[in-house]
Amino acid sequence: MAMQNDEQSNDMLRSQAQIWNHIFSFINSMSLKCAIQLQIPDIIDRHGAPMMLSELVEALPINKERSRFVYRLMRILVHSDFFQKQTISVTEEDEEKEREGYLLTPGSRFLLKEEPLSIRPFLLAMLDPIFMDPWQDMSRWFQNEDSCPFYTTHGRTYWDFAGQDPNLNDFFNEAMASDARLVTNVILKHCSGSFEGLNSIVDVGGGTGTFAKAIAEAFPTLNCISFDLPHVVNGMKGSKNFSYVGGDMFEAIPKADAILMKWMLHAWSDEECIKILKRCKEAIPKKENGGKLMIIDIVVKKDEEGDDSLRTQLLFDMLLMILTTGREKSEKDWKKLLLDNAGFSDYKIVPILGLRSLIEVYP
Ligand SMILES: C[S@@+](CC[C@H](N)C(=O)[O-])C[C@H]1O[C@@H](n2cnc3c(N)ncnc32)[C@H](O)[C@@H]1O
Repeated sequence: MAMQNDEQSNDMLRSQAQIWNHIFSFINSMSLKCAIQLQIPDIIDRHGAPMMLSELVEALPINKERSRFVYRLMRILVHSDFFQKQTISVTEEDEEKEREGYLLTPGSRFLLKEEPLSIRPFLLAMLDPIFMDPWQDMSRWFQNEDSCPFYTTHGRTYWDFAGQDPNLNDFFNEAMASDARLVTNVILKHCSGSFEGLNSIVDVGGGTGTFAKAIAEAFPTLNCISFDLPHVVNGMKGSKNFSYVGGDMFEAIPKADAILMKWMLHAWSDEECIKILKRCKEAIPKKENGGKLMIIDIVVKKDEEGDDSLRTQLLFDMLLMILTTGREKSEKDWKKLLLDNAGFSDYKIVPILGLRSLIEVYP
């Protein structure tokens, strides 16, 4: 009997810990956001050696009365592996003493302002109240008829909001561009063969053109277009083999040998995806003449592959449910959408982008 009571207590306490962990998960992202806003990774990086707490506090742009709280922020971020501590010897009052200094980890390196492949703009955009507030409306949305919780909170879709608010448009486009820089880097290293033999390519929903521009530079004889909504590309200047075209992908897409769609189809419902894919099919030549789509998106893993990357993929799926009408798709979903619904003949998944894959699709 006593044993049974012990087991019950243990179960109860384990459940309590599990619930607390879930309740307070937001503290991880908010603490990281604060560190980025205070430029802590940049300050430690500029220091060039393990940085003692006293040195960090001195360098931070904060009210010095808050100094004693910095340790607590750093402690949780060390625990989450965004910083590490190293013991260093320092001379204090003519005595050699051991102190601890903070260093960056690979995670915080990718949050540096000057890092060419920095994920900082994406972090700041996704944790902005414009994108965070709709999470508070998730249950309200389950009971109403709005297209997504973003609509419930802001009374309009994200795309309408961005078209009316230049500040939002700018920081979202920069967040997308930062991801495009990282993905382009990998694609050009591992999949450059996919661009060979093409004369022209259109990046549909290409934002401010980071991806298409990089491809144009890597393949000087390939004509590259970044196609996006007019408010995104208006006033942007192209170069020799790279240009911007403004328009609506639901109406028509510029003609090209291949169409690129990175982080696009996941943001629209299956019905909307079918419409976009039909416009794509009209814009490219037949398979035997080299026509193809190059989709960069998540292919959700099977449950039995359950690991950290499946969890992140599921988090993305929730993000799409809150902000858009879209969803992340398994291979089975992609197959149905591309072959059965949109009438393409074949596809090939190249899983070279971590959580995402390159999906080549043939008419
Ligand atoms: C999630 S972002 C992806 C941006 C870019 N492909 C990337 O991954 O960096 C979606 C893009 O689709 C564009 N978009 C939304 N509706 C569109 C439409 N009807 N026609 C063309 N582009 C559109 C948005 O402006 C935005 O740049």
